[in-house]
Amino acid sequence: MSNRVIAVLPGDGIGEEVTAQAVRVIEKLNAAFDSSFACQHAPVGGTAYDLHGTPLPEETLSTAREADAILLGAVGGPKWESAPRELRPERALLGLRSEMSLFSNLRPAILFPELADASTLKPEVVSGLDIMIVRELTGGIYFGGPRGIEEVDGQRRGFNTMEYTESEIQRIAHSAFKAAMQRDKKLCSVDKANVLEVSELWREVVTKIGSEYPEVELSHMYVDNACMQLVRAPKQFDVILTTNMFGDILSDAASMLTGSIGMLPSASLDSNGKGMYEPVHGSAPDIAGQGIANPLASILSVAMLLRYTFNENELGDKVESAVKRVLANGVRTADIANEGETVASTSEMGQAVLDELS
Ligand code: IPM
Ligand code: MG
Repeated sequence: MSNRVIAVLPGDGIGEEVTAQAVRVIEKLNAAFDSSFACQHAPVGGTAYDLHGTPLPEETLSTAREADAILLGAVGGPKWESAPRELRPERALLGLRSEMSLFSNLRPAILFPELADASTLKPEVVSGLDIMIVRELTGGIYFGGPRGIEEVDGQRRGFNTMEYTESEIQRIAHSAFKAAMQRDKKLCSVDKANVLEVSELWREVVTKIGSEYPEVELSHMYVDNACMQLVRAPKQFDVILTTNMFGDILSDAASMLTGSIGMLPSASLDSNGKGMYEPVHGSAPDIAGQGIANPLASILSVAMLLRYTFNENELGDKVESAVKRVLANGVRTADIANEGETVASTSEMGQAVLDELS
């Protein structure tokens, strides 16, 4: 079998530490199951800015473009906060998403039964939680124009534009309905159609696409209500479909229902199955360099990569069951440990997963 290339972009802070463990997992798959994944490293974010004066160097972008899939760590940190907007680490993420048309962002929020205590919500509210947020990732207010800060009548005025075309809505709606078909066949589309025209169009187009998926039960919810429902009764949701900015906000809320943002992976896909896979958590500058970060979100991102880009469901299962066994064995990094429990380091947690992969 020819080599399948994974561009590895560790980025900043704990991004580097957790990605190193995910790469060990990929190497273990090669050794133990005769896979042939080749990892190509490239700098991104603040690390790339320090090296090359830009958060997304041309070489990094072409490494990402030429690869079959991308494994990203995290970007950002206080060191780069005062850099001009176009040179901030976050620009690299937005640049990769839009340059590679990674419009479909899948963010699962799953509560591992072993970690039910980690949530701030009552166990009966969250036990068994398994939600998939499908967030549109290359449009909406993040990329709309006109945008800027201008001088009007002696004071400054800041402005952005929330916009969606019918085809942008159609393709993300298809992603969400397809995800729902693989799951419990329930889809809730979240918008603000009581106020925004762009949401009115969104709702209309999603409803129309819904007629192609008669088995999926489609509902619509305003985003303010969706926030409330997420913390009141989150298990009512199966798949949530929403726009770029609403998805940014709702996915942070959903991730905290599980109590362990260090556990959650994500996939950002184009229309050909190419994808960028990354933990939902950020670069966590406060704990960077200490070797205590939880690498499981990055390792679970490898599982998503195996499934969505390479159709390697069996390998994906192996990685996910290894993680479940590690949790069942009581191995805990600091973020998911209860008081008095022994705490594993980043590399000890990585090693525990490797041991379960034999
Ligand atoms: C995310 C992040 C990014 C976003 C930032 C870092 C640009 O919050 O992936 O959710 O807003 O999309
Ligand atoms: Mg976010």
